Amino acid sequence: MRKQIVAGNWKMNNDIDASKSLVKNIIKKLKKKSLKNTRVIVAPTFVNLQKVASKAKKTKVEVAAQNMHQAKSGAFTGEVSAEMLKSVGVKIVILGHSERREYFGETDAILAEKVNAALENKLEVIFCFGEVLEDRKSDNHFKVVESQIKNGLFHLEASAWKNIVLAYEPVWAIGTGETASPEQAQEMHAFIRKIVTDKYNSDVAESVSILYGGSVKPANAKEIFSKEDVDGGLIGGAALNADDFVALVNSF
Ligand code: PGA
Repeated sequence: MRKQIVAGNWKMNNDIDASKSLVKNIIKKLKKKSLKNTRVIVAPTFVNLQKVASKAKKTKVEVAAQNMHQAKSGAFTGEVSAEMLKSVGVKIVILGHSERREYFGETDAILAEKVNAALENKLEVIFCFGEVLEDRKSDNHFKVVESQIKNGLFHLEASAWKNIVLAYEPVWAIGTGETASPEQAQEMHAFIRKIVTDKYNSDVAESVSILYGGSVKPANAKEIFSKEDVDGGLIGGAALNADDFVALVNSF
């Protein structure tokens, strides 16, 4: 049975004190909860990863980075490698977030390299993709999503997919308060599972968790998460508040 996941992307929010207190509160609120098939992940900024990872050690909370560089090491000012992430206790990395694609010029080709570097270093990848509003309006959303997945991930062997989580995030729904309807999310997630089946096989497609992202909050999570092919969410705004975030975990 594939895992349900609630992953909080803290983006460029929370200084060290706020990060420590947020993870501490989430851990406390989850303490009595039995999370059989559910994973809870938080992704703080690079500078706070080590502290948050050490607080989360041996708890129900896992820690992810929001990005990494594809090279092993070298003259890449301001960047962080997979090995460095591992060395501070991080086991997961978010790659391909639309903000990275849009503001930092991350192309499909760069992302494919980042995916390879992450997997070579035994990091699990949460791979993000999604269409912009014009793509949806012009009915190109399936085509766009298919090409992002194909270019970023379809070079992988089937066996590598056990370390991949997919995150469908329609760009028009990120931070806008606008969510894809549960039906729109389900429709896209079923399409994604189909293209993964066609490329690999149904074992791979049925095992991969597909998260929805874009203005998920306690008020709409239950309905979205109840859809057959939606295995949880990648959460921005609502992940910055421990009560809201834990309410999302409780929405399954
Ligand atoms: P949001 O962000 O929940 O604030 O819309 C989602 C994301 O960017 O992952």
